[in-house]
Amino acid sequence: MSDTQTQAPGRNDPCWCGSGKKYKRCHAGQDAGATRGRRRGPDPERIAARVRPGRIGEARPVPADIPRPAYVDNDGTPPGPRRPAIPQDPDVIARMRRAGRAAREVLEALEPHVRPGVTTDQLDALAHEHIVSLGAYPSPLQYHGFPKAVCTSVNEVICHGIPDDRTLQEGDALNVDVTLYLDGVHGDTSTMFRVGEVDPDTDRLIVVTEAALAAGIDAARPGNQLREIGRAIQDLAEAEGMGVVRTFVGHGIGEDFHAEPTVYHYDEPSATLVLEPGMTLTIEPMINFGTWRHVMWDDGWTAVTADLKPSAQMEHTVLITDDAPELLTLTDRTEPPRDRR
Ligand code: MF3
Ligand code: CO
Ligand code: CO
Repeated sequence: MSDTQTQAPGRNDPCWCGSGKKYKRCHAGQDAGATRGRRRGPDPERIAARVRPGRIGEARPVPADIPRPAYVDNDGTPPGPRRPAIPQDPDVIARMRRAGRAAREVLEALEPHVRPGVTTDQLDALAHEHIVSLGAYPSPLQYHGFPKAVCTSVNEVICHGIPDDRTLQEGDALNVDVTLYLDGVHGDTSTMFRVGEVDPDTDRLIVVTEAALAAGIDAARPGNQLREIGRAIQDLAEAEGMGVVRTFVGHGIGEDFHAEPTVYHYDEPSATLVLEPGMTLTIEPMINFGTWRHVMWDDGWTAVTADLKPSAQMEHTVLITDDAPELLTLTDRTEPPRDRR
């Protein structure tokens, strides 16, 4: 999910960089260049882009008897406003446990297939078939026009990579993000796969991303403000010298894919919502080895780091409880995220 409200300060507001200067006298010019589109971004001839757009295959069909979210028959746009964040009914929570587990099963079943020479679209095909075999709908498919069942984000791709005919290469770092709709609710989870052996910087990035997700989850407790999740993530990642992506955020989830509240992965002062047992949300930090800034490909989906250094992301759907948060996206063999630094 992207968040446009926080993208840039007003021209006369203080600059986001903390210089104390007005934004227009500081980073405004640079930001405009960085956000205008792929061609205004880093020159891939000069800086090593490791990922180029491939060919996107035909959309795969979903059997007509599988219930689909309302946006599918509404041109990809969810009808109605985003519902406020309120504790979910026990019945919704029970269904979310099943949807969350199913999403994680699909994600983990991909692992043996992630190897050099496999295309991201082949992974999409496997995930698509698995999801529909469970009687579920792949939530990204047709969501705001997204053409595939899962997102596959390689190396410098931050998120929302579209599965295509690019083959995985030895040393690639791949995020696969699976969301499915089962029994009227969504489960949303992602992880990083190493294709063979990755370089030491990328390995450290993945380790830090897992630690950041663990820290964010640990802050998701009743009585805490929402911003404390982001603060925990930001403190950890920035202490490691890494950048926290701001434009793409976590979200409430349940009967709606992207519900209130917006879950920031940095300390956002306006995120004062007090967490209560029964709230369900995703925590999905995107951590960059270099700058947190992104550039969009002209496909309108693929977000890459502005410096083309690697990015990593991991995601769980979590339930706020009276004490430690419950991860809804777990299988019997999932290792919950932890600090392995
Ligand atoms: N699963 C992503 C998330 O974590 C959203 C993907 S929606 C798509 O929120 F349209 F980009 F596929
Ligand atoms: Co996701
Ligand atoms: Co999500």
